[in-house]
Amino acid sequence: MHVFSLPRLIYYGSGSLDMVGELASSMGWRKALIVTDPVVAGLGFINRVENSLRSAGVEVAVYDKVEPEPLFSQAEEIGRLAQEFKPQAIIAVGGGSVIDAAKGAWVKYERPDYDIRGITPFEWMGIGRKCVLVAIPTTSGTGSEATLGIVLSEPVEGGKKKVALGSPEVVPTIAVLDPELAKTMPRKLTVSTGIDVLAHAVEAAVSSEASDFTDALAFKAAETVFRFLPRAVEDPGDMEARERMHLAATMAGMAFSNSGLGLAHAVAHAVGPVASLPHGTSVGIVLPYVVEYNAARSGEAAEKYEKLLRYLEMMAGVSAGSLAEAIRNLYRRVGQPETVAQAGGDVRAVKTEVERIVDETFQDPDLVFNPVFPSREDVVELVKRMAE
Ligand SMILES: [Fe+2]
Repeated sequence: MHVFSLPRLIYYGSGSLDMVGELASSMGWRKALIVTDPVVAGLGFINRVENSLRSAGVEVAVYDKVEPEPLFSQAEEIGRLAQEFKPQAIIAVGGGSVIDAAKGAWVKYERPDYDIRGITPFEWMGIGRKCVLVAIPTTSGTGSEATLGIVLSEPVEGGKKKVALGSPEVVPTIAVLDPELAKTMPRKLTVSTGIDVLAHAVEAAVSSEASDFTDALAFKAAETVFRFLPRAVEDPGDMEARERMHLAATMAGMAFSNSGLGLAHAVAHAVGPVASLPHGTSVGIVLPYVVEYNAARSGEAAEKYEKLLRYLEMMAGVSAGSLAEAIRNLYRRVGQPETVAQAGGDVRAVKTEVERIVDETFQDPDLVFNPVFPSREDVVELVKRMAE
């Protein structure tokens, strides 16, 4: 038995942001809580959403303090705010952190008795009785607007520790994909988030839970990255490229939310904080090494990569001897680094912390979906190869 879960409605295209008021009228919302972060709050999009809602007669409250890598306690704080305000919609406007904080807040609002640290796909919570969750991403990358994943953090000595949870019930009810919002992404963020989309698609394609549903989305998302990421990087104002990348991020999210990810994400989650590199950059660095590793050890994975390469040749004009080579060629076009050293990351820390990185890779929930279960030595070797 398998489950496939998706948002119920997806509004997309330029101007879809201004549809929120109309949506509120159709769905009969009287109150809406907007959740965002201080950076997005300064960009003016929140005013557009607010105006659209207010002209539809909706009372609006705004929470604009979501931190990067938000804590469980922050999601609970927003949940308590919702309990007082009693909205019919929580509207998250931002990147993955904002959307994940809003997912946690949604659960807390719907089920004040429930400990959000215990969210699991194996227990039905009964979410959605009080309100809907609307996700409006401002980056084209995490796919959180379409996934069942929630990444929140716990405070630990000297910092934070990320915890990844998931439930089909926390997939946002509605996603609004307006490429105008993604236009504000600077070049480096366009590259790292775009490469993250590719990593989601490639890992979804060979995951142990891949299906016909997820393949269709993963293949199309990979094709879109190869065709449109170079254009979005070269010309930030290329709205066709921005829009296609914005949709690809959601498509890849729909795929991996239902298939799981794999070894590249497990390693990147462990290496990224040690190397001081953003998620997309570190997952991009390790991805071609993982593709080579899986292809050498799993006939089924090798065959799927080959099919993806043939599809990319046909649909995106890709020409390469292997999928790993095609990925590396794309990296050279868009300026994605191929090693931690090239990315300007902390190579020494990666080398000295290699044992801890390997421990964390084996604790990562994404690892179980990889088509090959690696040995400790294999992961040590991967980390060394990606370092420099
Ligand atoms: Fe990712």
